[in-house]
Amino acid sequence: MATQRSLVLLKPDCVERRLMGQIISRFENKGLTIVAMKMLRVTPELSQKHYAEHVSKPFYKSLETFITSAPVVAMAVEGPDVIRIIREMLGATNGMNAAPGTIRGEFSSSRQMNLVHASDSPESAERELNLYFNANEYCPAKYALADVIRAPEEN
Ligand code: PPS
Repeated sequence: MATQRSLVLLKPDCVERRLMGQIISRFENKGLTIVAMKMLRVTPELSQKHYAEHVSKPFYKSLETFITSAPVVAMAVEGPDVIRIIREMLGATNGMNAAPGTIRGEFSSSRQMNLVHASDSPESAERELNLYFNANEYCPAKYALADVIRAPEEN
């Protein structure tokens, strides 16, 4: 299984509701590896780059106001098939439609305040990670317990 990296963004609602720890724990409990992490404030310019495909949509102004309204936490999360796995862990974009047990199904009832953004393809992941991280900000590591999380051939 190919090792991938995904951008994961804990959005302003996640930070303001003090849910960061619970959400990060879900990824750690799953055995995924955080290889970069920082707290920052998204600027309008960064928002327009991040959501480039949505800038012309009617909801974009509201989305930009929201994403720039409070700090976010950006993470690069690594693991085999991690882009699919994280999207499934998040659940449907609209928290009102997200399945019970998913992050949004448990914590969100909104399409905009849906707590977490994650990359939807390898191409999006590369583009998005480059918006948030420089090459020297990654801290890849071989953790001592890695071999009790997955067999070597599963990585
Ligand atoms: S689309 O074009 O609606 O199908 O896009 P989608 O993948 O569903 O959503 C992309 C991101 O835009 C946010 N979004 C919205 N925000 C506010 N209002 C409305 N109506 C709305 N529709 C979509 C949605 O939360 C997604 O954010 P991310 O960060 O990608 O999860």
